[in-house]
Amino acid sequence: MSFTQLRGFGLALAAASILAACGGQSSTSSSTTPTASAPASASSAAPAADGQEYKVAMNSQFPPFESMNSSGQIEGFDVDVMNAIAKEEGFKVTYHQQAWDGIFASLKAGDNDILISGITITDERKKEMLLSEPYYNITQVVLVPKGNNIVSVEDLKRMDKVGVTIGTTGDLAAQKIMGATSEKIIRMENLPLMLKEVETGAVDAVISDSAVVADYVKKKGDKGFTMVEVPAFTVEYYGIAVRQDYKALMDKITSGLKKIQTSGEYDKISDKYFAK
Ligand code: ARG
Repeated sequence: MSFTQLRGFGLALAAASILAACGGQSSTSSSTTPTASAPASASSAAPAADGQEYKVAMNSQFPPFESMNSSGQIEGFDVDVMNAIAKEEGFKVTYHQQAWDGIFASLKAGDNDILISGITITDERKKEMLLSEPYYNITQVVLVPKGNNIVSVEDLKRMDKVGVTIGTTGDLAAQKIMGATSEKIIRMENLPLMLKEVETGAVDAVISDSAVVADYVKKKGDKGFTMVEVPAFTVEYYGIAVRQDYKALMDKITSGLKKIQTSGEYDKISDKYFAK
């Protein structure tokens, strides 16, 4: 299933692709429009693929995959990957901020055409939407203040408050360990909120995606946080989502993804965000 392998803390992607790329940074004629999602327009027939413009939604509170920069543009690994795919396949994209909590509903309602947002492929989600081949992989990890020596699930169980983003696979991982009804699981809307809570000590730990936690720890430098890997958390694969009836669009995404993996473009993007 995977074209990539998880390689420990740095989350380097094993080089699956073959050739070094030539050419410059990919850019389509895409624009970034950080609007909240438009009112639900009834979903019409799947748009024709070529030259079309698609609305891409993401919860841009998840660096380095997606975040909003100071001029209100959404940027990140997912944006670059999506742009590269769109360029290969000759369609256009615009990017839209979406609360994580409503992201799947927004797709279903037809507010958006594509989701790329560090979305883990799960069997449950596959029942609701089409998900692409994996384009990245992670595990859940635990972020704790330095000196907090959690090494196992048992250590995690002993904590009083563990923060997760509601409805994420981190939420599921916490439930698996602490019980679905555990009051020790503190659910928040997004990652920045959770990080604030662990910084102030309002929660003891945070469970989230390894590449995101690693990025935070790296940026914080010596601020005193550690990322702990828990062996019980297994690998998760990110996929790009479209509605069930957008098979033709998914075919384009599949094809574009393959092309950028082969051309070296994917590796270039990966190096930009995840170089050690
Ligand atoms: N990978 C996790 C999941 O799919 C978290 C994704 C959160 N993404 C985001 N952009 N906030 O549940």
